[in-house]
Amino acid sequence: MENSTQRRTIYADHNATTPLGPAARKAMIEALDAWGNPSSSHGIGRQARELLEKARAQVASSCGVDTKDVVFTSGGSEANAQAILGMHFGVEGLRVVTAETEHSSVRDAIAFLEKRGATVYRAPVLPSGQVDTGVLEALIREHRPHLVSLMAANNETGVVLDLEKVSALCQEFEAAFHCDCVQAFGKIPRELWNRADLITISSHKIYGPKGVGALIVRGGRKLVPLPFGGTQEVKRRGGTQNMMGIIGFGAACEELAPQSESLRPLQQRFEKALEEGLTGVSVNGSTAPRVANTSNVRISGLVSEVMLSILDLSGVCVSAGSACSSGSISPSPVLLAMGLDKNQARECLRFSWGRDTSPQDIDTVAGLVIEHVNRIRARNTR
Ligand SMILES: Cc1ncc(COP(=O)(O)O)c(C=O)c1O
Repeated sequence: MENSTQRRTIYADHNATTPLGPAARKAMIEALDAWGNPSSSHGIGRQARELLEKARAQVASSCGVDTKDVVFTSGGSEANAQAILGMHFGVEGLRVVTAETEHSSVRDAIAFLEKRGATVYRAPVLPSGQVDTGVLEALIREHRPHLVSLMAANNETGVVLDLEKVSALCQEFEAAFHCDCVQAFGKIPRELWNRADLITISSHKIYGPKGVGALIVRGGRKLVPLPFGGTQEVKRRGGTQNMMGIIGFGAACEELAPQSESLRPLQQRFEKALEEGLTGVSVNGSTAPRVANTSNVRISGLVSEVMLSILDLSGVCVSAGSACSSGSISPSPVLLAMGLDKNQARECLRFSWGRDTSPQDIDTVAGLVIEHVNRIRARNTR
């Protein structure tokens, strides 16, 4: 990404995806030769199955769950669909509690059920970005949902759910707790989320390959398989497994360092630099518990799509919202749910740091943001 005349590209979009880590890369190259079908009973098949089960054990161990609970999927979106539809499609009188700030793969799967008769209760979020647990508790107490689906850490703001409280409520009222942990895995201690009944994780957010993830299904719960038609994954997900992806995912899990707090000083350094260097800066979610790698920053007067392009030209990769919805110019539903209006939501940029981010990267990005914003503001006041 570097040549002698160009500044090095600084990647500040790790919540969209992460680069492939060395362990995953090495394991995937080796896996090119393990071309057998893991469902075959002959020797070549058994070799592949051994690698598949090794990866399953690596994923299970990094999540602190049993290997039999790990169902490999094509990623976080499919795992979310599986948890919501595969478990709950066709349940008579289905009641679901969720929040307005979930990832679109959860929002849309729940909306699909709602159109087919499920009753859905959406807990609001506070201006801090945290799900209002008072309202949540009231909804669970009153409506006794079959399913509670809430994300552990928000992909746009990094705000962390009060997981202990939600787990306890779900246990008390015997609701299945589905927790989308795609942005929490490797960022907050697993003990906070690994007791949920259904857990979604995705490989490409933890330095593994894209197109692979897992749904962790606790307590032997039955799933209607999506897709149908095979006995793979103990009849919980049909289709020959994506062996290379799964092997890379397993290796990435094994390499995953407990980095829960290591990025905190960089997050603080970045936000302080912007707050000191510019007027009209606020950090969305800063009053709530947050993962250490995410800074969602609002800079008044800024048009985030314009700033994204300017930073891109300066060699800095950021996001103007959730990557999964970029390309659409509608403001982020997450920021709207936190009380920002449409114009304010469009003033926000998401910076998400990763294990290769250095303090120099932070200073460079902060310096560039300050420089560009000052230039834009000076031009606008002319
Ligand atoms: C919170 C969250 N859930 C689910 C997903 C979807 O994961 P995947 O890209 O593996 O389908 C994402 C991706 O951005 C996410 O951030």
